[in-house]
Amino acid sequence: MRVAGSHRQGGGQNPRPTKTARMILLTAATVAATAFGMRAGAAPDAPAAPAESYFQAEIAPLLTEKCAVCHMTGEEAGAMSLIPDNAIASLVGVGSAEAPTQIRVVAGDPDKSYLVMKLEGTHMAHGGAGAQMPFGSPPLPAAEIAKIRMWIADGAKP
Ligand code: HEC
Repeated sequence: MRVAGSHRQGGGQNPRPTKTARMILLTAATVAATAFGMRAGAAPDAPAAPAESYFQAEIAPLLTEKCAVCHMTGEEAGAMSLIPDNAIASLVGVGSAEAPTQIRVVAGDPDKSYLVMKLEGTHMAHGGAGAQMPFGSPPLPAAEIAKIRMWIADGAKP
């Protein structure tokens, strides 16, 4: 269907700047950027890159490297996917498959989170089962467990 009056001659509804105009804009931008850069501590004026969340920066790489090899699709033993895109949904507020009285991650409370018990090896004292994680490898270094505790204490946010 054709709307009356919609046809404009020339067709160019969004004329692009000419090459020269673009060159001038580019030069102006470069001069401005240089001027800002020359001031010490120009950071507040610089466009800030979107900050990565704590989960994205610290937890996701750890899960990818040390957990997702076994906890990939959720079909494996343990019944949960720990690839970063799925981890929050698999963990936060979700009951443990092997310890019926436990929740995998209780947001805000690392001590009540079965995930932490499995990493620290205290799970058997809390109605748990199976091995300390990561299965078949040495326990995570204390600094990495501390990061997971911190992430949970801070609300286990994405
Ligand atoms: C080599 C394979 C393997 C690796 C690596 C591994 N897991 Fe597991 N995980 C298992 C198996 C098998 C089970 C079920 C048997 C058991 O608990 O020992 C399990 C169970 C679990 C459970 C209990 C789930 C539930 O609902 O009860 C948690 C929590 C867990 N793993 C967390 C982790 C975390 C976190 C990592 C990474 C630091 C990790 N696992 C690394 C194999 C692995």
